Amino acid sequence: MVEIFINRDDELELLTRAIKTAGKVLIQGLRGVGKTTLLKKINETANGIYIDFQNILRPRHLAKVIEEKTKINVDTDDPYECLEVLFSIAEDTEKLLIFDEFTELINRFGTLKPYRGSGGKESISMHLRSLLQKSKIPVFMSSTSMKTISEITGRYTKPLARAFDIIITLHPLKIEDGAKLALAFANKLGISLEETYALKIAELTGGNPDYIRVLVYKLPKVVDNEDIIIETFNQELIEGYFQVLFMGLQKELSPSENEVLRIIAHGFNRYSEIDRLTRGINLNEALASLLDRGLIRRIKLSKKEVKYTIVDKTLEAWLAMTEFPGLKAIPFKRLQISTLSFEALIRELFMNVHKPIEIKDYLGRTLFLDKIRSVYRYSGALGEVDAIIKTETQKVAAEIYFGEKCPPEKVNQLLRNIAITEKIEGSVDFGILISYFGFQKETIELAKQNEIIYLLSEKEINNIATRVNYRKI
Ligand SMILES: Nc1ncnc2c1ncn2[C@@H]1O[C@H](COP(=O)(O)OP(=O)(O)OP(=O)(O)O)[C@@H](O)[C@H]1O
Ligand SMILES: [Mg+2]
Repeated sequence: MVEIFINRDDELELLTRAIKTAGKVLIQGLRGVGKTTLLKKINETANGIYIDFQNILRPRHLAKVIEEKTKINVDTDDPYECLEVLFSIAEDTEKLLIFDEFTELINRFGTLKPYRGSGGKESISMHLRSLLQKSKIPVFMSSTSMKTISEITGRYTKPLARAFDIIITLHPLKIEDGAKLALAFANKLGISLEETYALKIAELTGGNPDYIRVLVYKLPKVVDNEDIIIETFNQELIEGYFQVLFMGLQKELSPSENEVLRIIAHGFNRYSEIDRLTRGINLNEALASLLDRGLIRRIKLSKKEVKYTIVDKTLEAWLAMTEFPGLKAIPFKRLQISTLSFEALIRELFMNVHKPIEIKDYLGRTLFLDKIRSVYRYSGALGEVDAIIKTETQKVAAEIYFGEKCPPEKVNQLLRNIAITEKIEGSVDFGILISYFGFQKETIELAKQNEIIYLLSEKEINNIATRVNYRKI
């Protein structure tokens, strides 16, 4: 039983559809994002055959698991036969088949006869593909290592990917759902946690359910200030779960991939900068591999300018906190603003506006945003501006607020931001006030009096996210 389950409505809907149509689904996503939980949840009602391939080291183990789950005796050491039998049982009993971490199956069985000697991993991939194409049952597979998937499925000659009807990339939970999860975990553990602190947890972890779980677990019985959460998170980065997790990840990466990740995490994210700092390595290969793994995202700002961002902000912070030859450690305090925050997520969202978009703002005003050129946070002699956004044709100042309904003072703050931005950039076209949980009445009234102010709440933010293919926030 999945005790706590939050959201994933869209994914459940897709999976339910796939069950009805014998669809073949691949779910991919970074570590801890919730693939296993989602598969187990759907299986509670589907009553299929769920197999975790992390536990299947040999065909014997698979045979045992099939026997346990179907009460049908399977007696074979042969990996090919084992898979044939499994699919035929599922077919006969009309059961959904679920392969969690299926790349382990390919990695392990691929080295055994008869696959070994006839192409190994490629050979078992082809076998799986033909089983998928033939079978009239739904089959769901998941994988963490997108690199392995892309190695075995991505190339034209190894088109396992084409055997899937749907490929779902699972992202962390939306911030508000992350907070719900933190509350649910806290409740289960008997920890008294106020909602604002739950939100802080979701913000720091970027909504990754596994990170939320780990963080809540370490909290004291009573959480009565935010610093406890921040300090616990910091501690986990330095010597706890995150340290162990990310050290492990580093071992999976090549030295060049590690180097490139470090450099990006330390703030050098333009291609030209990375190139300058990594002379002597095969940069394009390292970047391609990191993209395949889903660890970085590529943002094309212009013909000449390409940027890379690290997808997992907790990983980014961990990487940034340590020194690296030529790169200074970035203090955790600074990372809280630059990387581990709602405002950082919003800045990155705007950075991903790779085409002109038009949306309705919170007031119903039409907001046109041209293709993005740059987004930065200003902090200096003139004050602070959460985001200065430059598009092909516009200059925009933003104030980003994360808390209960946004108070009217923030409109004045935005007007100050606009004035500062005018001094820096020469002119400003308009201002945007962004508040995840919406706005107080007075804030709305105040904004209405001002033509050049737009308001964005959770709904509008995620409208933009959907349009530019960014994760839900
Ligand atoms: N939708 C959700 N609702 C509640 N809890 C969730 C949800 N998704 C994930 N979790 C929690 O987050 C943790 C990690 O999730 P899960 O193991 O499903 O991730 P995964 O993507 O399979 O990770 P891995 O790559 O390590 O296999 C689990 O403890 C689970 O309880
Ligand atoms: Mg899993």
